[in-house]
Amino acid sequence: MPLYDLPQRPRRLRQTGNMRRLARETRLSTDHLIQPLFVMAGEKERQPIGSMPGQDRLTVDQLVEEARTLDDLGIPGIALFPKIPDDRKTTDARHAVDPDGLYPRAIRAVKAEVPDMLVITDTALDPYNSDGHDGIVRDGDIDNDATLDVMCQIAAVQADAGADIVAPSDMMDGRIGAIRTALDEAGHTETALMSYTAKYASAYYGPFRDALDSAPRRREGVPVDKATYQMDPSNSDEALRELRLDLEEGADFVMVKPALPYLDVIRRMREHSDVPVVAYNVSGEYAMIQAAAANGWLDERAGAMEALTSIRRAGADVILTYFAKKVARWLAEA
Ligand code: PBG
Repeated sequence: MPLYDLPQRPRRLRQTGNMRRLARETRLSTDHLIQPLFVMAGEKERQPIGSMPGQDRLTVDQLVEEARTLDDLGIPGIALFPKIPDDRKTTDARHAVDPDGLYPRAIRAVKAEVPDMLVITDTALDPYNSDGHDGIVRDGDIDNDATLDVMCQIAAVQADAGADIVAPSDMMDGRIGAIRTALDEAGHTETALMSYTAKYASAYYGPFRDALDSAPRRREGVPVDKATYQMDPSNSDEALRELRLDLEEGADFVMVKPALPYLDVIRRMREHSDVPVVAYNVSGEYAMIQAAAANGWLDERAGAMEALTSIRRAGADVILTYFAKKVARWLAEA
């Protein structure tokens, strides 16, 4: 006889591995994962990124190799970010619209060699802007509409080079509608738009800005942070407003970024969106796990799998994560 009268015993569903498999609500698979990659000029070189152990800046030939490996592992897409040398950066970010620049060349190379791999571009000025901002700095602030004009040109250059998904990460008002129109007018009606819909002014982008040397510059007349365009971490109703605008303007994917500190926002966006919701598990989230694992404070694999599963459980359909390649390997051996 049992000691207590307990007809409800939730532990029944946790008894064995197979029982837990049947009861499992959320699954992580390579289907949902996108690997962000960093590209730089040069040949046959991989430069380790100090604050992101395991991630390198790649020359175009190495990028193509990496895309091939990821394709073999079943990862459907890569998100590309360029490291631009300081002498190519200007206050009008004009190198961003050069069709023969590093970035369009990288896109063309991947699409030529690994055509199935989806290439998701970063449509933004900051890697090319000597002020380090995602927009044109004018009179001490970011000029929304002047920036839109450049963003439309960047998107067209990226689509011309073969981008499958153009992803504006700048947070200017009206960019989705403006870019959709520009792409359609250029004949790119099939190029999808992934909007960084709720991109927060976050401390967790630190390692990424390190990787690209793209932090706002400390100069007279240049805002020290991105708070006048990226969202206030305190807000989530505002994320729904951005969502409504992006859907009206024609976004094909909507994103929340970062992911782990904003799981509630991912959940709310999932409930209100009729297109896939993407979460960006950003550089700082990756660096935290790497740092703790390097110190022996937690297990990298278990910590990463739990974090990514939580992001899926919160409602993300797709996750951009620096762990994508490792997860694909872990899932294959499990
Ligand atoms: C900028 C951009 C940033 C990231 C992606 N695109 C940084 C920023 O807004 O300053 C961050 C990604 C990461 O931290 O992993 N357009």
